[in-house]
Amino acid sequence: PSSGRLQWSTRLSFILAATGSAIGLGNIWKFPYITGENGGGAFVLVYLACILVIGIPLMMAEIMIGRRGQQSPPNAMASLAKEAGSNSLWKIVGWAGVIAGFLILSFYTVIAGWSVSYISVAADTTFVGKSPAEIGSMFESMLNDPTRLLTWSTLVILVTLFIVGKGVKSGLEKAVNILMPCLLVLIIVMVGYAMTTGHFMQGVSFLFNPDFSKLSGESMLIALGHAFFTLSLASGAIMTYGSYLPKSVSIAKTTIYIGIVDTAVALLAGLAIFPIVFANNLEPSAGPGLIFVTLPIAFGQMPFGTIVGILFFIMLSIAALTSAISMIEPSVARLVERFKISRFKACTLLGFSLWLLSVGSALSFNLWKEEKLFGKTFFDMVDHLTANLMMPLGGLAIAIFSAWIINKKVSQEELGLGKGVMYNIWLFTMRFITPICIVIVFLNALNII
Ligand code: PHE
Ligand code: NA
Repeated sequence: PSSGRLQWSTRLSFILAATGSAIGLGNIWKFPYITGENGGGAFVLVYLACILVIGIPLMMAEIMIGRRGQQSPPNAMASLAKEAGSNSLWKIVGWAGVIAGFLILSFYTVIAGWSVSYISVAADTTFVGKSPAEIGSMFESMLNDPTRLLTWSTLVILVTLFIVGKGVKSGLEKAVNILMPCLLVLIIVMVGYAMTTGHFMQGVSFLFNPDFSKLSGESMLIALGHAFFTLSLASGAIMTYGSYLPKSVSIAKTTIYIGIVDTAVALLAGLAIFPIVFANNLEPSAGPGLIFVTLPIAFGQMPFGTIVGILFFIMLSIAALTSAISMIEPSVARLVERFKISRFKACTLLGFSLWLLSVGSALSFNLWKEEKLFGKTFFDMVDHLTANLMMPLGGLAIAIFSAWIINKKVSQEELGLGKGVMYNIWLFTMRFITPICIVIVFLNALNII
């Protein structure tokens, strides 16, 4: 470990950065729309179970590997494998994470671009007095406007790379510390509005009343994948941030805090959105446009809706930015480590390929709609490849690595769970429960069991 490495100055700065990575479009955009597509309650229940038995213990493992390894994910994995007398091929798992993070970023910046674009749409009071159908076609017309899509996603990429190029620490902590609580307040305001729609209980019941007949094997895999996505796991992000974490911090406590906050934000977003869906006779399964139609309807109707709408899309864009930063950081860390180039140079190199991928993703929402490859758009494919394949498999490997390969002494020392019951629960979960659950969900989704 070189002394020139970045390090978070305090426990709080790590918590803020990791929370900023976790909370993002996954909670507010993706969670509601996949919940709507997969039938509600039962899906949410599987998702919550995955957070508890897979996500949280795995996040502890990833932070531990990062902090112990003190390098980018591939090298951290390799050096811990070496320390344990195992094979250096474990670095492949680290690589898979870095690549998954990069791939996700290619569409993440596009959705963040939608959010940025909607700041000005809200500011033009465009939502006021519009019918749900008009607001729906507003969203469609954005998808039909490649210049607009590319302008905003390019801007998001430039801002992300600029911040990362300067070193992730500066500004990030403040943004998260001040703006995340504001975002939370705004979501609670939206939940308040949802309560006035007369369909609040219908929304609550959609989210929390499980109807298991709606739960397919594929839905379970999507719920599992989303547990990884929302906690930024198996993507290099948390492992890399962990490598900047000082030794004195308790990994266990920090992880539980992040898990709770992230889950709360997602559930609140669901509580805000589904009552609006039902009050306006919209389809819960409308897909990726869900929040860009439902929330503007609310902004158009509620008192101070224009200002709330502007603030909401600003906060959402910043939440997306702090997540995007954490997705590219592992690639940057790896390039800097490997080629001894500056962070800025690494960002420039990554920027162009990222931009090309994001162009494909931006245009795929509409231009390619008619000629889907294998029945899916480019966005669908990247999303499925990462969240439903690379992340669960990466998570499986990380669970096995942290509980079977790494020496127990090391994990006892690092995790901050002591050596008693809590540690043993973690170890048992990582050794048996997490791997078995992931394998069962996979086999079930493939209709093998
Ligand atoms: N966790 C982020 C969100 O919920 C997305 C993310 C995935 C961030 C992978 C980093 C790595 O929006
Ligand atoms: Na999240």
